[in-house]
Amino acid sequence: MDAAIASSFVISVVRPQSTGIGGGGFMLWSDAATGEVEVFDFRERAPLAATETMFVDAAARGLVKPSVDGHLAVATPGLVAGLHEAHRRHGKLAWAALLQPAIDVAENGFPVYAGLADAMKERREILGRYASSRAIYLRDSQPLALGDTLVQADLAWTLRQIAERGAKGFYEGPVRELLLAEMRRGGGLVTAEDLAIYRVRKRAPVEGVYRGRRIVSMPPPSSGGIAILEMLNMLAGDNLPALGRETSRGLNLLAETMRRAFADRARWLGDTDFVFVPVQGLLSPAYAQARRRSIDPARASRSVDVPAGEPDGMPLRSRREVPPPRESPSTTHLSVMDSAGNAVATTQTVNYSFGSCVVAEGTGVVLNDEMDDFSIEPGVPNVFGLVGGASNAVAPLKTMLSSMSPTFVYDSDGKLVLALGSPGGPRIISATLQTILNVVDFGLPLPEAVAAPRIHHQWQPDKLRVEKARFSPTLLAALRAMGHEVDESGPIGDVQAVARNAATGVLEAASDPRSEGEARAY
Ligand code: DON
Repeated sequence: MDAAIASSFVISVVRPQSTGIGGGGFMLWSDAATGEVEVFDFRERAPLAATETMFVDAAARGLVKPSVDGHLAVATPGLVAGLHEAHRRHGKLAWAALLQPAIDVAENGFPVYAGLADAMKERREILGRYASSRAIYLRDSQPLALGDTLVQADLAWTLRQIAERGAKGFYEGPVRELLLAEMRRGGGLVTAEDLAIYRVRKRAPVEGVYRGRRIVSMPPPSSGGIAILEMLNMLAGDNLPALGRETSRGLNLLAETMRRAFADRARWLGDTDFVFVPVQGLLSPAYAQARRRSIDPARASRSVDVPAGEPDGMPLRSRREVPPPRESPSTTHLSVMDSAGNAVATTQTVNYSFGSCVVAEGTGVVLNDEMDDFSIEPGVPNVFGLVGGASNAVAPLKTMLSSMSPTFVYDSDGKLVLALGSPGGPRIISATLQTILNVVDFGLPLPEAVAAPRIHHQWQPDKLRVEKARFSPTLLAALRAMGHEVDESGPIGDVQAVARNAATGVLEAASDPRSEGEARAY
């Protein structure tokens, strides 16, 4: 846990485009002795002043992408509270010591690497709107370039407040005053009361069994755990190894499974503190078996013909639902395992690249734009092309639906064998699922399981996304002939995983070659 916390703070400094103390996340802890899993939900919450219609008809009101760019997109941050609570429960080293590496990196600076340079370029215009953001990330209105040193002195000061006073160093005192001043300056909704009442939520994980392995993942307000378990339940009726890994029939089956789970996500998933989610119904193997009956092994379905299922439980009125996509270089995941077999899997984010692009003046803190993860307006897809329904409508203090899926896999003796997760918006779910299948069904060694090419289908838009240049043209032609609209795109997900050989106790880590992570052993 100490390693996870220290790493989280350092990553929050060196990947401001992905995560930070102005954001939030989820964390799973697995106890080696008992196999019990603790779930920390420190995701952002909608401010008290948020309303269901706050982003509706934005254009007519002269607002441009208000749920993505600028102050209105900011929800109450949770990262500091979450890491502090995780430390209180399972930390061994002193809290302040865990922050020191992050403080050092913020203060001394580090060379801008390719991913950061690209992200600053992509968000240059929005970052440029705010003097506080400009001062850190731009020089003469140009983003810092590859190899420039990024120093974040204000952020070092803020981290020092947190090192000295714990979560209170963020939610109270001078940092709070600066956060609130920034909200007032730009018309943001987060108030002193929102910060005062922010609480980390302890949740019960969602669990299932796939080919004799216990799978434990993130419950609502993430859709990820339920979607992954529902898909595994559907696939349990098939023999993936017999179909083959990179075959048209195998990938068709996978895509159709994803299509169905994402249709259910759009209709049913939301914050269970606010809306009824038929969790048991969606996780029932019988429901999954019924759901997979409409899959044609030789042909693509059309998403318009695949409505959400009707799992056991109370129905909810849904909103009108429509498509389009987009993507971002945001969010981060880290997995840690120790010699005893304790493990942490945590996914953290400010949502879209550089969140709202607003730095709270004087703090160096990039504020999230997590409000965009709500279903902001009937029929309007979010920045990841996701559509949603009433379950995920905005409400005060509600948590916006997530795809973040920190996940653990246990062997048939109940020993933890895999901790994993990924960034990538909705593609988190597909990337995590395929990594599990590569390990469990295809028996690939961990680095290959993580590196193998991936596909993604999210129901709407009705497209089968495949990683460019990773599948043979013959295979893609076969998928098209089956009726899939194949969309060749950039990388899908960025998986960070640690595996433990149950027989030898040897740990193996793999960081996705698609991006800038690293596997390390100490
Ligand atoms: O919680 C979620 O699902 C999103 N805010 C995650 C965003 C993300 O992974 C961006 N990465 N491409």
